[in-house]
Amino acid sequence: MDGLLIRGVALADWICPTRDGPGDLAVAGERLVDPGSLVSPRVVDGSGLIALPGLVDLHCHLRQPGQEQAETVASGTAAAARGGYTAVCAMPNLYPVTDTPERAQAIAQLGRRDGAAEVVPIGAISLGQQGQRLADLAALHRLAGVRLFSDDGHCVQSARLMSQACAAVAGFGGVLAQHSQDSDLADSLACCHSAERASRLGLEQWPATAESVIVARDVQLAAASGARLHVCHVSSGESVEIVRWAKARGVKVTAEVTPHHLLLPDDRMEGGDTTFKVNPPLTDAADIEALRQGLADGVIDAVATDHAPHTPADKASPFERSKPGMLGLEQALAVVIETMVAEGRLDWAMLADRMSHAPAAIAGLGDRQGRPLRPGQPANFVLIDPARRAVVDRARSRSRSRNNPYHGLDLPDPVVLTCWLGRLTHDGLA
Ligand code: DOR
Ligand code: ZN
Repeated sequence: MDGLLIRGVALADWICPTRDGPGDLAVAGERLVDPGSLVSPRVVDGSGLIALPGLVDLHCHLRQPGQEQAETVASGTAAAARGGYTAVCAMPNLYPVTDTPERAQAIAQLGRRDGAAEVVPIGAISLGQQGQRLADLAALHRLAGVRLFSDDGHCVQSARLMSQACAAVAGFGGVLAQHSQDSDLADSLACCHSAERASRLGLEQWPATAESVIVARDVQLAAASGARLHVCHVSSGESVEIVRWAKARGVKVTAEVTPHHLLLPDDRMEGGDTTFKVNPPLTDAADIEALRQGLADGVIDAVATDHAPHTPADKASPFERSKPGMLGLEQALAVVIETMVAEGRLDWAMLADRMSHAPAAIAGLGDRQGRPLRPGQPANFVLIDPARRAVVDRARSRSRSRNNPYHGLDLPDPVVLTCWLGRLTHDGLA
């Protein structure tokens, strides 16, 4: 057999909702090719299916090195491939923290060895993510090609350190991805968005202002320095409005929203199930509506999973002491279809933009990820059945962890096949 031919599939990328009706998609080696050039390919009937460019995740936690009992590069990227992703950006809150070029190179190397998707290391902003001294951001960029920097898990609290980081990345086009959480307003025990629920359940409140005051500060620091700022996991309507304001003034700011903040309201934590503990916490209907609106109108540029695997032991403590975070890679596309496409708020081209093209551009991967589905382009795509649904079963996850907040929900189950550089990293037809 020579290559793969998908016949009669609707091609949807960030340029076209579905290009002039169904067409053929052909793969030979690592590239898309002219369908006429294949000799005896494997043929797949694409009728009723849609091809999207491979999804790109700006924000996930792969836990290797250091917490391999929760996830590895192999298991995390297998989950990514199952979810339609062909590239994932790996947050640096690892053991050791990704704060040197050697450590960043080691993660990229693990990705090449074990990955079912491209693994893009994110560098730390501060040494050890301690928020005290800047990591050598220029060296991370020069020697390891790092473009995204984040202390995620922690917020860079010091405005002085953040402005130094802005100055450092402005020179080479780096991006500071901030986990916005003012620790005076929401410390490490804070976990509940609503004041009323927090007092009723005996939890510490995590008010929306803890996020929005940092977003407001950072867009001003970015404006003053010309640096690029990326706001991680935006969770409140106030933050969306600040990003809207900053973009209107030409500030180089982008923002992401997670699938869980798009779908899950904060009443899920009423039962005390620590699966629903996440940072920033789940929010209410008004915030969810603002996030959906922001994603639809492009103020929020991208969907990013914040896939955060944790072992059962790490989720076993009482709510305020258990680790924050939930899985996301396998159900992100399903959630965006359910909350945005089915609601008529995004068409397929816009979805391809928010989940592939825009995140690829932010991460500096635009030469190989998030490309239009045309002959000559790298063969990075996902074939989906938009009508297929299933009840999510956390036991069937490719992740090593089981903290799946969608367990038991009836959701779209769209991913039929994922192709990364010509390699079928998920093949639901085999
Ligand atoms: O819920 C979260 N989990 N938020 C973060 O910022 C970090 C992440 C993790 O690493 O588990
Ligand atoms: Zn975070």
